[in-house]
Amino acid sequence: MSKSFFLFLAALIVTCSPQEKPETEQTLASAYQDYFYIGAALNTSQYNGTDQRGIPIVKKHFNSITPENDLKWDRIHPQPNRFNFEEADQFVEFGEKNDMFIVGHVLVWHSQTPDWVFEDENGEELSREALLERMENHITTIVTRYKGRVNGWDVVNEALNDDGSLRESKWYQIIGADFIAKAFEFAQAADPDAELYYNDYSLFLPEKADGAVRLVKEIQEQGIKVTGIGIQGHYMIGGPSGEEVETSIKKFKELGVVAITELDVDVLPAAFQFMGADISMRADLRDELNPYTEGMPDSIKQAQIDRYTEYFEVFMRHRDAINRVTTWGVTDGDSWKNGWPVSGRTNYALLFDRQGNEKEVAKVLMELPSKK
Ligand code: G3I
Repeated sequence: MSKSFFLFLAALIVTCSPQEKPETEQTLASAYQDYFYIGAALNTSQYNGTDQRGIPIVKKHFNSITPENDLKWDRIHPQPNRFNFEEADQFVEFGEKNDMFIVGHVLVWHSQTPDWVFEDENGEELSREALLERMENHITTIVTRYKGRVNGWDVVNEALNDDGSLRESKWYQIIGADFIAKAFEFAQAADPDAELYYNDYSLFLPEKADGAVRLVKEIQEQGIKVTGIGIQGHYMIGGPSGEEVETSIKKFKELGVVAITELDVDVLPAAFQFMGADISMRADLRDELNPYTEGMPDSIKQAQIDRYTEYFEVFMRHRDAINRVTTWGVTDGDSWKNGWPVSGRTNYALLFDRQGNEKEVAKVLMELPSKK
């Protein structure tokens, strides 16, 4: 037997040996890779390298990221002539290094925007023109810096009331209703290739969904780019139902892409009859509002599995339009739901537990696509 034939035979045996087969481990991102990105909102400690528990989960299970806070106006542009790009740069570098779809959150919002934005140096309210100029400068500076690197932007956040009318924010009061179209126009000019979203909560409410459709359609009809609508998806085990969510997705599909941008499923008793995410609404801590400090009872675990499954079944049915499903945080311990609307509660809104283990709900969701 010649030496080269022997080597060929040895190579063949090694290649075919079952032990040598690379193990393909199931992850959330891989389970949905043929359908949509699976994203997570990250906090600073996950991209500056300090969260040693969260980082491996993000790298393993997610292929899209959104910064939970560091691109908000008060963080990135705290004073008139001062931009703070340090954390935002780290966020974008983390996404690039890990080959992720990177989302910028958020350019124009009524919340987390310092008072000076709306005032001149004497504390007087700005004119429409001056505020538009300030908005353009903010958007252009940030979007240009990350041009071709941030793949999609939440351009305007939460401009609607629950009845579908426009929120009377400072942006609206000073500029007028076209502040939204203007924001998209500035973002498009700064990076024509980036995806541009209108992002809001409680869009399962039919009147609010209709308001969003009217709003986006009107801007698109002016020839201004709006890629589609971001459905935040701050939900509860008590609802909304998959059917309610699906009805709004069907409406939004007509306008373009639909992204699920901030998904979580709160398991705690509702503090008040409101299922949105208006951070100005708060309630006091009472024992009956915080019943699971020692862990989630099985019935609640199952209710959460059922809700998440119901939603993902809807997302899969509309995968032709949905490009991303992002959860608002990584582990239960990171979630804003431990602090809102009641601070100091123990909530379990996400797919990984406080120790960083995959919850049963994550396993169920990873199995779901192969069952279709
Ligand atoms: O980082 C500071 C810390 O230095 C300070 O000691 C502490 C004292 O309050 O505050 C810390 O900042 C907090 C920040 O979260 C980080 O934890 C802010 O006060 C707090 O207001 C901020 O809350 C964020 C909230 O938006 C307001 O920006 C939540 O983390 C974030 O999850 C939430 O996200 C929003 C989306 O942007 C839009 N849709 C709704 C969603 C949930 O409200």
